[in-house]
Amino acid sequence: MKIGNVKINGFAALAPMAGIADKTFRELCVKFGAGYVTSEMVSSRGISFYNEKTIELLELSKNEHPCAIQIFGDDPETMAKAAYFTLKYKPDIIDINMGCPAPKVNKSGGGAILMKSPELCGKIVDAVKKVVHIPVTVKIRKGWDNANPNAPLIAKICECSGADAITVHARTREQMYKPGIDFDIIKKVKESVNIPVIGNGDISCGADAHNMMNKTGCDMVMVGRAALGRPWIFSEINNFFDQKSKYKIPSFEEKLKIMVLHIESICQNYGEKLGMLKARRHITYYIKGFPSAASFRSIACKLETLKQFYEFADKIVNSL
Ligand SMILES: Cc1cc2nc3c(=O)[nH]c(=O)nc-3n(C[C@H](O)[C@H](O)[C@H](O)COP(=O)(O)O)c2cc1C
Repeated sequence: MKIGNVKINGFAALAPMAGIADKTFRELCVKFGAGYVTSEMVSSRGISFYNEKTIELLELSKNEHPCAIQIFGDDPETMAKAAYFTLKYKPDIIDINMGCPAPKVNKSGGGAILMKSPELCGKIVDAVKKVVHIPVTVKIRKGWDNANPNAPLIAKICECSGADAITVHARTREQMYKPGIDFDIIKKVKESVNIPVIGNGDISCGADAHNMMNKTGCDMVMVGRAALGRPWIFSEINNFFDQKSKYKIPSFEEKLKIMVLHIESICQNYGEKLGMLKARRHITYYIKGFPSAASFRSIACKLETLKQFYEFADKIVNSL
């Protein structure tokens, strides 16, 4: 499949996840077969003020392509300027956030609240498309609430304004992350546009991905939470479609090896002090399902150095 002129190999993309899907994690997911990866959402206003912390989010590693940089905001001109600014970081795709449910983001006019203003959605895509030469995608939800599931309309408007693909998280903003994925809305979006549609929500294995694609006709899926502590999920999904062999889920020992490499890369990228702070959350995801996970989790939350981390990993190995 292609998004604009960007070739996508693989059946699943990594979802944008603020505070988690940083360049180290994205690189790992590409290694495990993610079709493409998406940056954490980046504020267009933050970019316009050259906010240092905001700009840091734009850094991509050379081993994480294809990669989309996701921006959010509600002002077409600021969004266009931000999109143009991101080009020096060499993303393959610009993604526009029209699905974030966070009150802070919605109060500023960005994220899912844009779905209440279809005309503005079109203006934003149009403004961004005018200034970038790379594909532009839009990530939406089912709608703001169940009374107005307008994803198909928003998708059509975005397509008419030049969007190259649409991702649909099949829940309303009102639903936040509560159970209840609406396959039918993805199907309706797919029927309303002629650009690729990426289905998103609650995919946690190859069979889930296959089921969503089968039932909705979407072109690929996007995986968020199920990739946390399980970056191999992308190989698992690709393998499910290829059907060349049965995918062997990594053993506890293999999972620990992946975790160690991941945490070492975090520390390499961000330095040991900040790296270990970032690492704690990932470690708790990796050890989910391990024997005595609860007691290891409380230790993980206090790890400060790589030395402590290696000792911690040894303890887990000895407990298996
Ligand atoms: C911690 C966290 C951070 C997220 N950050 C973003 C974000 O920055 N931009 C965005 O469009 N969606 C964001 N999302 C939503 C995910 O991209 C995805 O749509 C959602 O988690 C549903 O997919 P899943 O069921 O596979 O997790 C975030 C989700 C989580 C759990």
